[in-house]
Amino acid sequence: MHAPVRSAVFPVAGRGTRFLPATKAIPKEMLPIVDKPLIQYAVEEAISAGATKLVFVTGSSKRAIEDHFDTDPELERALEESGKAELLESIKDVVPKGVSCIYIRQGEPLGLGHAVLCARPAVGDEPFFVHLADDLIAGEPSCLKQMADDYQNHGASVVAVEEVPHETTSSYGIVAVEASDNGQRMTKIVEKPKPEDAPSNLAVVGRYLLAPQIFDKLENTGRGAGGEIQLTDAIADLLDDADVYAYPFSGDRYDCGNKLGYLQATVAYGLANDEVGDLFEEYLRSKLGS
Ligand code: G1P
Repeated sequence: MHAPVRSAVFPVAGRGTRFLPATKAIPKEMLPIVDKPLIQYAVEEAISAGATKLVFVTGSSKRAIEDHFDTDPELERALEESGKAELLESIKDVVPKGVSCIYIRQGEPLGLGHAVLCARPAVGDEPFFVHLADDLIAGEPSCLKQMADDYQNHGASVVAVEEVPHETTSSYGIVAVEASDNGQRMTKIVEKPKPEDAPSNLAVVGRYLLAPQIFDKLENTGRGAGGEIQLTDAIADLLDDADVYAYPFSGDRYDCGNKLGYLQATVAYGLANDEVGDLFEEYLRSKLGS
């Protein structure tokens, strides 16, 4: 039995330029899918996997994230007085008791690896999750919970992967794997290779469960693809002295970092929504004439 993973790191310092002008004054992680911001789906997933310490690595213009996870006594009172019990519950339980939020500023936009390293003082010497809120994954149990369960089998780092069309490898970390008793052991990981250089079409999606040794690797990781300090490069270094498993999660992933993926997520979550799902389906059918 390995100790449960308690910390989850959310790198949320990116500017979200692909969604301008929507993200000029609000963080991209606050964009809603139906009625919840992306970052709330992220937090709920981490909590479902056992996380009790939520570490947000933020940048400028990200105040709304802190406000979202804070209590709002004035709003709570107003909802209570107007008898809106359901809405009241929906804003009260965003961060349940026993779960704490820590905010750390990433002073410079030096990349995902640098953002994760900024979380070191809050995480300490324990394994931890990294969750990229752009990648929304609908799965039951949640993707991080699946990874936490897998981790219990071997106690090593786990990275969620999925097959992608070969021509899209330059958008992802791409891994090579070999079969082992504990699942697919990673033998190689490369950040955003061109299709002709990619070792496979198995792509890293935004979920990681990492051993704390990754921090020492990150301390020594130079700038890689795009001139940034890449988490992928630190994981490649970790492979020299530790096992890392690639985990093909079950669930549907939506890349909410681009417009099409965001719209697909809105449709999928809209159709699954108890309140509006049926009417939304009717509407979509009428629009599409089928
Ligand atoms: C990051 C990682 C990449 C990973 C991807 C998943 O890239 O660097 O390895 O495949 O997230 O979403 P980004 O999408 O931030 O450019």
